[in-house]
Amino acid sequence: MRLTKRSGANLFGLCPFHSEKTPSFSVSPEKQIYHCFGCGKGGGVINFIMEIEGLSFREAVEFLAKRVGMEVPDERGDTESRKRERMLALNKDAARFFHSRLTDPSGAPAQDYVNRRGIAPKMVRTFGLGFAPDSWDALLKAMTALGYTRQEMFDAGLIRVGKKEGSFYDTFRNRLMFPVIDIRGNVIGFSGRILGDGEPKYMNSPETMVFNKSRNLFAINLAKKTKAPYFILAEGNVDVLMMHQAGFDSAVASLGTSLTPEQARLISRYTGEVVIAYDSDGAGQKASQRAIGILEKLDIKVRILHMEGAKDPDEFIRKNGAEVFRSLLESSENHVEYRLRAIQAKYDLKNDEQRVAFLKEAAGLLASLPNQLEREVYSMRLAETARVPAQVVEDEVARLRKSRLSREKKQYEREELSPVRNLQRRERSVRYENVRSAKAEEGVIALLFQDPELFRERDPVPPEDFSSPELGRIYAALLSQLRSGGELSPPLLAGQLSQDEMSCLTEIIGSPEMTQGSRAKALADYIEVIKSERSKAAPQDDLRAMAAKYRQKKGYGG
Ligand code: GTP
Ligand code: MN
Repeated sequence: MRLTKRSGANLFGLCPFHSEKTPSFSVSPEKQIYHCFGCGKGGGVINFIMEIEGLSFREAVEFLAKRVGMEVPDERGDTESRKRERMLALNKDAARFFHSRLTDPSGAPAQDYVNRRGIAPKMVRTFGLGFAPDSWDALLKAMTALGYTRQEMFDAGLIRVGKKEGSFYDTFRNRLMFPVIDIRGNVIGFSGRILGDGEPKYMNSPETMVFNKSRNLFAINLAKKTKAPYFILAEGNVDVLMMHQAGFDSAVASLGTSLTPEQARLISRYTGEVVIAYDSDGAGQKASQRAIGILEKLDIKVRILHMEGAKDPDEFIRKNGAEVFRSLLESSENHVEYRLRAIQAKYDLKNDEQRVAFLKEAAGLLASLPNQLEREVYSMRLAETARVPAQVVEDEVARLRKSRLSREKKQYEREELSPVRNLQRRERSVRYENVRSAKAEEGVIALLFQDPELFRERDPVPPEDFSSPELGRIYAALLSQLRSGGELSPPLLAGQLSQDEMSCLTEIIGSPEMTQGSRAKALADYIEVIKSERSKAAPQDDLRAMAAKYRQKKGYGG
């Protein structure tokens, strides 16, 4: 992520949590917090790691501790991270079990299949391929022997509930197993291919507490170590495997879905260029278009691979060999060329009317390119293709670009600056029952930062009086930091407050400061509002209690 602008004490850049064109992600080096004015996310360093890596609080702390060579003491109480650790251990043991079955004589059918597909023994080891035996409970038994419970195997998606009460059976049976391994080397799930024909061809682990398909990529554990300047993005596991085998060790695949923004973000951590090697069928081409859009948003250079006479990289390499594939890779078009050609294919350029239509559509594409140099280069090329003077194309592109920019600006103003949009934002993090009181409660919290002295001696208003439970928790956590003699430090509250509460807090901290002289008065006003809203609510509660008592006396029942 690049922080490109400075505004006051804050740095601004494009938000890594939502896609945007103008920077609304702010970082305060002084306060050690970030806040995005677009999507509303905010927090400190631990929250940032939790969000971007998809980790729990404890894992994020461990992640950060590891970076500075520290250890986090074990806390027995943290059951969620215990569970995750157990699940990862179970997955690793299951992968070992599958792998051992592949080399076992009983794994002959799978070994035959591997040989038939031309997968080298070295790749079997590198990818940790395995075989799930043709049995209802081979894995179940093996993992039980290692001390794992059925519940744990079920939670990991390795066994399923059977028809008979209390019975379970192996999810993966008689399949070639591909472990899915994350960047830290954890086995997080599996993909199993049927040996030969049949349905379903591939079976994947369900989403579990450690397996999130949209955030991970098959073979990212290997590709992250590549020396190649680009990643190759394929559809199938076998494609990835065969590319690695042919020496292209930066190949990855999205896990049976089309590329997601999270996967693109993961890629962008390792490379600035992606070659898309999707299947050459219609579905693959459509998926390419979608992927281009997602990758472009992250400033990743995109090229598209054209495989003539083969449906996917696996087939292409088997037919033509690694060297032909390499030259294909090197000559692969960037996405502009690719898209221009796709447009050109729709028109007959010998026909004048169609030539004009082609020019218009192609100029529209060029107008959408953010880079001026690219627009110029491709305008010249387009002019050649359509056999018109370059000036004509340049003028048309410039005209379309202008109207496009003004359209985008209007849309931005409509979406970003409208009150409705702001309301929606609010709803996404923390919702208020009593907005009037909550606004005053936010004011109290803001003042706590601007003038801690007002709170030093005593609590001017107790957190229990807050109408919003979230704001009450935030306020109480801050007060306790203050009381324990420490400085106010929002990043340290990551373990106590939820992500939404942290976002709410960073938003409040970002609100404009009040002048010194007006703070005490403002605090008194806020407290007044909180108390009066509270007293409005209370009588109703009393009435309800009285009514309940009355009904009881009359014997109406409760
Ligand atoms: P083969 O070469 O036939 O082994 O497959 P492939 O590598 O060419 O993969 P294909 O293009 O058929 O599918 C691409 C990806 O889509 C696979 O790696 C799977 O992740 C996913 N996929 C394919 N078929 C299925 C299916 O039947 N079910 C599910 N859930 N996913 C599938
Ligand atoms: Mn294939």
